[in-house]
Amino acid sequence: MLFDFGKIPPREGYKLLVSTVTPRPIAWISSQNPEGQLNAAPFSFFNVFAGDPPVVGIGIGSHEPGRAKDTRRNIRETKEFVVNLVSEDAAETMNVTAIEFEPGVNEIAEAELEIIPSVYVKPPRLAASPVSMECELMQIVELGADSGLVLGRVLAMHVRDDLMLDPAKHYVDTPRLKLIGRMHGTGWYARTSDLFQMDRIPRRNWILRRDKKAPA
Ligand SMILES: Cc1cc2nc3c(=O)[nH]c(=O)nc-3n(C[C@H](O)[C@H](O)[C@H](O)COP(=O)(O)O)c2cc1C
Repeated sequence: MLFDFGKIPPREGYKLLVSTVTPRPIAWISSQNPEGQLNAAPFSFFNVFAGDPPVVGIGIGSHEPGRAKDTRRNIRETKEFVVNLVSEDAAETMNVTAIEFEPGVNEIAEAELEIIPSVYVKPPRLAASPVSMECELMQIVELGADSGLVLGRVLAMHVRDDLMLDPAKHYVDTPRLKLIGRMHGTGWYARTSDLFQMDRIPRRNWILRRDKKAPA
């Protein structure tokens, strides 16, 4: 079936996008306003976009027209944030921080989250996360009136000691991070435990394989 995004209401297009572009990693963002009020919330319109410079991006909307989510407002005003990744055992706590609280409510206190001071930025990181990235704002690409793509440069990454395979080589024990991904509909998530491996094919091997198959 064809769905023409110029003809369907935005809410229906949103449904098609979030139920097909899956699984999505989750950025559990800690930020603070200029007065130092802490905030935490999850965002699955998230990914990494470059290694050099190291850039992450997050699409953050509004609670209602004209009222940007606290995270986007905080990042715009302070230019700093921390992306904490979400493991299976932190899923329920993460979900508490997604409650649409009124402005000024400290989700970190509501969810009884333990925080750890960051090294380069003011917002702290979340102790429940196996990986946290301290970020500074590069730019916000405005996506219409009520949404913005936040691009952040990663200044530093914290990985829990026991989850490193070889710190000297920067090898992480990825399966043991047990990260979750956002799936479709209301409340579906994916575990990252059903893996398979597929090596890249060197061009020479591909050509040999192709020539063997070709009729003489
Ligand atoms: C798993 C998950 C992913 C979410 N992803 C997004 C997202 O990508 N963009 C967005 O604007 N809201 C997203 N939300 C909703 C926000 O987390 C929610 O609106 C939150 O209250 C925003 O908090 P804030 O106003 O403190 O920033 C998501 C919620 C959940 C549970």
